Amino acid sequence: MSAKWRIGIILLPVLVLVQCQVKELDWWEKTVFYQIYPRSFKDSDGDGIGDLNGITDSLEYLKELGVGATWLSPIFKSPMYDFGYDISDFYAIQEEYGTMEDFERLLQKAKELDIKIVLDFVPNHGSNESVWFEEALKGHEKYYNYFVWEDGVEDENGKLNPPNNWVSVFRKSAWEYRKEVGKYYLHQFVIGQPDLNYRNPEVVEEMKNVIRFWLDKGIAGFRVDAIAHLFEVDKTLFGGKYPDEPLAQNREIDPDNYDYLDHIYTKDHEETFEMVYQWRDVLDEYKAKDGFTRVMMTEAYSSPQITMKYFGDGVRAGAQMPFNFVLISEVSGSSTAAELKYALDKFLTFKPVDKLANWVAGNHDNNRVASRYSVELVDGLNMIVMLLPGIAVTYMGEEIGMVDGYVSWEDTVDPSGCNTDDPINYWTVSRDPERTPFQWNSEKNAGFSTGDKTWLPVAEGYETLNVEIQKSTSRSHLNVYKQLTRLRNEPVFRYGRFESVALNPDIFAFKRWHDGEIYVTVINLKNRDHTIDLTYFEHVVGHLEVVLTDIRSKKVPGDLLEASQAEIVAHESLVLKVVHTLR
Ligand code: NOJ
Ligand code: MG
Repeated sequence: MSAKWRIGIILLPVLVLVQCQVKELDWWEKTVFYQIYPRSFKDSDGDGIGDLNGITDSLEYLKELGVGATWLSPIFKSPMYDFGYDISDFYAIQEEYGTMEDFERLLQKAKELDIKIVLDFVPNHGSNESVWFEEALKGHEKYYNYFVWEDGVEDENGKLNPPNNWVSVFRKSAWEYRKEVGKYYLHQFVIGQPDLNYRNPEVVEEMKNVIRFWLDKGIAGFRVDAIAHLFEVDKTLFGGKYPDEPLAQNREIDPDNYDYLDHIYTKDHEETFEMVYQWRDVLDEYKAKDGFTRVMMTEAYSSPQITMKYFGDGVRAGAQMPFNFVLISEVSGSSTAAELKYALDKFLTFKPVDKLANWVAGNHDNNRVASRYSVELVDGLNMIVMLLPGIAVTYMGEEIGMVDGYVSWEDTVDPSGCNTDDPINYWTVSRDPERTPFQWNSEKNAGFSTGDKTWLPVAEGYETLNVEIQKSTSRSHLNVYKQLTRLRNEPVFRYGRFESVALNPDIFAFKRWHDGEIYVTVINLKNRDHTIDLTYFEHVVGHLEVVLTDIRSKKVPGDLLEASQAEIVAHESLVLKVVHTLR
């Protein structure tokens, strides 16, 4: 035997091994994150407000769903001007949600069930009812320097006006005057949310301590709120005064609207990324001690180029999951298949090759999938979120296809709605509709609370749209969701490659393939039937076996479709598997 052959025989097993070997994924890379809005999930004490014990009692439900981690919207002490995103004590639990002991019990139970708990970290702002702010008003220098203060501008009549034209995300001036100190403070969100001053090293240290405090309790990481707003421009570059922001293109909008201005001085500043990298260092200090990865997911509705900077800069590491909001911000029920493909490709195109994508179709700030897309597309959207390459994130209720609730002007409590002062159009910006109580069953208050009044009304239709009914109906969104969380554990969905296509304006399809297995998911976005040719995809030939369908489909698992002419009816969503695959 020649030397060449001998080397070949020796190398062959090595090559086969290399080909089959896939990187072992860390817990967060293969799990589904389930977002709980605690106020609306489960009320254990009948006050009409969801709480920690309610969550603890419901953790088995999460386990049944097949999710491995839950992110809780803020549970910290708060006067609730922005329902917990205005935190008056970053180290304490809000009383109506429970006690620190309740939280520790929640952690314990979650640990027993192997569900990771992720908390909301709200670094951009505190509360105007916090000790920090009260001390600042009393002239306590340390705390005065925790916030962002500026002199007002006197007009010719001697009237004091805000320092500049900056507008809050929730409308109107981003500045509020406090006579105690004779200055205005900055609040990029509601008046009750004074911005923290990240140019003060003491604030930086304090907020790292907040991170450490909760990590010490045993949580698995943080979702980081409103990160793009962390830094304002350095005013020393402008003679010590914050400059006006330029007007945005769209002049139709009224000047109180956040979109009236181009936020070049208050959003997406370079210093923000450095801060995120520093927080990652803190998380990694903990990992260095016990080997367990703590995660960070950052919330920024920014361009893909900016979003990617949260991952790291090539040298320093940042967030593992900069949220990918394309399914929220860039597509809706009226989008074509090409628009959907274009949006989905964005994150995959811009992300560094060694990072994972993540998919988010809903949260407590945006209308529900059933309302933004359509009731018919609930399963299709869950298929996209679960079966595209990367991490899946689900907002509570999307697994059963909850729809936006109707909340009258009188019942509206969200500052985003209330600040419109408009009893007719408030609903276009109010976030209450997607925050209505979770629908557990057909009983009083959808099983959310035994109280006589719930903090937001329960959405209409809960008698037929709820967990209990969907558990006992074989064709339900809930059961589709559970099958999807199982399916995504298959190697083809964990490691497989990805290709997508808009076969025509209505039909979006994607292929995942790995180690000889090929799956094709097809989603008909519109109300028209089609016959489609899936042999567009390489190696998709012969027959495709139906693995999973949306709940209205007449097809059942095991049915065979011909790849070259598959019938897809209006709004149908299917997960298909190629029967005879070519290696
Ligand atoms: C984003 C949160 O998701 C939202 O609910 C909140 O109002 C703002 N950040 C301000 O904290
Ligand atoms: Mg309660």
